[in-house]
Amino acid sequence: MLLEVKNLSTEFKLKRGTVRAVDDISFTIDKGEILAIVGESGSGKSVTSLSIMGLLQKPGRIAGGQILFNSQDLNKMSQKELQQIRGNQISMIFQEPMTSLNPVWRIKDQIMESVMTHMKLSKKEALARTIEMLDTVGIPSPAERANDYPHQMSGGMRQRVMTAMALSCGPDLLIADEPTTALDVTIQAQILELLYRMREKFGMAVLLITHDLGVVSEAADRVIVMYCGKIVEEANVKSLFAHPMHPYTVGLLQSIPQIDDESDEPLYMIKGMVPNPLRMPQGCPFSDRCDRCLERCTQEMPELQEIDGHKVRCFLYNQDSEGGRAQNE
Ligand SMILES: Nc1ncnc2c1ncn2[C@@H]1O[C@H](COP(=O)(O)OP(=O)(O)OP(=O)(O)O)[C@@H](O)[C@H]1O
Ligand code: SF4
Ligand SMILES: [Mg+2]
Repeated sequence: MLLEVKNLSTEFKLKRGTVRAVDDISFTIDKGEILAIVGESGSGKSVTSLSIMGLLQKPGRIAGGQILFNSQDLNKMSQKELQQIRGNQISMIFQEPMTSLNPVWRIKDQIMESVMTHMKLSKKEALARTIEMLDTVGIPSPAERANDYPHQMSGGMRQRVMTAMALSCGPDLLIADEPTTALDVTIQAQILELLYRMREKFGMAVLLITHDLGVVSEAADRVIVMYCGKIVEEANVKSLFAHPMHPYTVGLLQSIPQIDDESDEPLYMIKGMVPNPLRMPQGCPFSDRCDRCLERCTQEMPELQEIDGHKVRCFLYNQDSEGGRAQNE
């Protein structure tokens, strides 16, 4: 197993109270596996990835749990030890490209520095590698564009540069936070194809964070659905799309536009809004939006339980509950 996240909780202590952005989540990623995390805005996807990378900013802090990478706990490492791993064995494509690009450095200098540090290449070899990577991510005239500064590029180009930088050292694990959101469909397909090739060729694993269920169905092996910092469903991609169990996942899937849908019906939207993290409802966090809410749901938190390799956190599937009996009759 490459990565094992065990009971991870991450909090932000604010004046108005404490936000538990990631609440006791556990998951694993094997070598060469593509695991997607999906969920609405604010569900804790980016905070999960920043926690793994050791890049949380104050007032964020890991309140508990372990992050085992090749059996070593990243949470117990010094910043120096983490720096050795970041950009080398684990690298990240950030949701906002400017987070990882330095505005006052030329593109080539940024990628070259990373490959020279981590791959021990000479300057000449590093430049060749940089141009090769820019070409691989679909940047036209890469040798010339390598001299650009980040502000001379469009958002989509910057996203590709960041992808080139993240992949340049051949990481074992790539954390990609919305890697294709700023890109048009053709480039999006090229980037996904590139991630696939890196997986086939080098056994690279990917933690793919995205809003886009179309991307998930095309690229991922396994999917985690997050809601309010918790995992509410986890399954392999076929099983999740064929048999979504959690009412939230069912709603997400119903809200995807279908190309062959000729009806004039408006697209389905999950009613209501994600609760304020400082005022979470008692019981199931989805209870105030759920069409199938039971009495028990507003009082108790359902546990994540496994049914035939598919995990779900919902009382409808509890054998001992009213809803569970109804499901199983
Ligand atoms: N710097 C911060 N200060 C306070 N709270 C924060 C901070 N960053 C994140 N949070 C809290 O953590 C929660 C999860 O945020 P996160 O950025 O992980 O969401 P996300 O799932 O990545 O959303 P999006 O799809 O919009 O990127 C947010 O609801 C917010 O309350
Ligand atoms: S536990 Fe209850 S409220 Fe929560 S998703 Fe299941 S049925 Fe809906
Ligand atoms: Mg995010």
